Amino acid sequence: MAMEGPEEQRGFETEAVHGEEGIDPYRALTPPIYMTSTYTFPSMETVDRVLGGEEEGYVYSRASNPTVRQFERTMALLEGGEESVAFSSGMGAIAALLLSWLKKGTPLLFSRHLYSGTRHFIESMLIPLGATVRFVDFREQGSSYTRLEEELREGAAGLFLETPSNPTLDIVDLAAVASLCRTYGVPLAVDNTFASPALQKPLEHGADIVIHSATKYLGGHGDLLGGVAVGARETIQALRATEASLLGATLSPMNAWLILRGIKTLALRMVAHSVRASALARLLSEKAPVVRVHYPGLPEHPGHEIACRQMKGMGGMLAVQFASGKAARTFMDGLRIIRIGVSLGDPGSLVEHPSSMSHRGWSTEVRRAMGIEDGLVRMSVGLESPDDLCGDVEAALTRL
Ligand SMILES: Cc1ncc(COP(=O)(O)O)c(C=O)c1O
Repeated sequence: MAMEGPEEQRGFETEAVHGEEGIDPYRALTPPIYMTSTYTFPSMETVDRVLGGEEEGYVYSRASNPTVRQFERTMALLEGGEESVAFSSGMGAIAALLLSWLKKGTPLLFSRHLYSGTRHFIESMLIPLGATVRFVDFREQGSSYTRLEEELREGAAGLFLETPSNPTLDIVDLAAVASLCRTYGVPLAVDNTFASPALQKPLEHGADIVIHSATKYLGGHGDLLGGVAVGARETIQALRATEASLLGATLSPMNAWLILRGIKTLALRMVAHSVRASALARLLSEKAPVVRVHYPGLPEHPGHEIACRQMKGMGGMLAVQFASGKAARTFMDGLRIIRIGVSLGDPGSLVEHPSSMSHRGWSTEVRRAMGIEDGLVRMSVGLESPDDLCGDVEAALTRL
């Protein structure tokens, strides 16, 4: 049961607060948490009706659960997709989608600028399982996308990309790429973790599937792991019936409930993250020891204009390039409020050094190809007072 009132008048904030209400027969304001592994049936006749699809019902929580279902329906609503399926982590969602593509037997296309875990999955799982994988460097594409078009013309099971990308904040023109993908019949999947649907809705720009690590901004409090895929009903039902259910990376009802709670404040949080990240990006870009700041909100960012077209705000993530790994690490050691740690999207600001942390396992050459130099530092700007964050960064810079 959706919220009453004319749908076209509802803004994102309203959808995020009310989501898909209605799993509780008592109309509880906050949804119940169905902590159950299985469901019972009053009769064999009901078994036949539920398993035959004539009656709605639940069978086993690895396949479906009412609290998880409420999260899935809310995500479909917020991303503007027909359906959604939840996972126990972002990697669960990514693994399920990519394994479903692998079955098609055609090459898989990836942006070169991807989260380290996704790249690891490609190298350690997809390629040993026999996948043909091609990487597209969107930095080299310019606005013409000729190389991408050549790859698409050859045929592919799908193209997977991130925008903004982790950790280099590269921006891809979603409408342009989606239109090319459509021309050649290649599904486009976008990992929307950095922006969240509060700032960017890839399906509206023509993408076919949206992926999230719900661990990050959707949950928003650094206290859980979760993932989700959103898209057309047929695609998502196929994922649910096979990869989601059979790989078993199922979201727990408790975590679905926590993410639903986080989503209520998503819109507000994303505005606050964006304001603080924007202030820090400007501050850092004016300071001498900093070589470069990667933040799509800065006019000098190569993807600034595209980001302004396709994003409602520039988000809480930025990356800072120092002259060396030593300078990057000295800066990080000088921070007091912003803490050292991987992950992102939490109320508390976090900073990480990809060469020593998230991308430590890759060779320098592979890191360079991903755009990661030793001097790069990634910041997840949290919700602390902007003055305190700026003061912390300024004090750390004086150590260089
Ligand atoms: C862009 C992006 N996608 C996917 C993931 C994987 O998500 P999870 O850690 O929830 O498995 C991450 C994790 O950092 C990420 O940053």
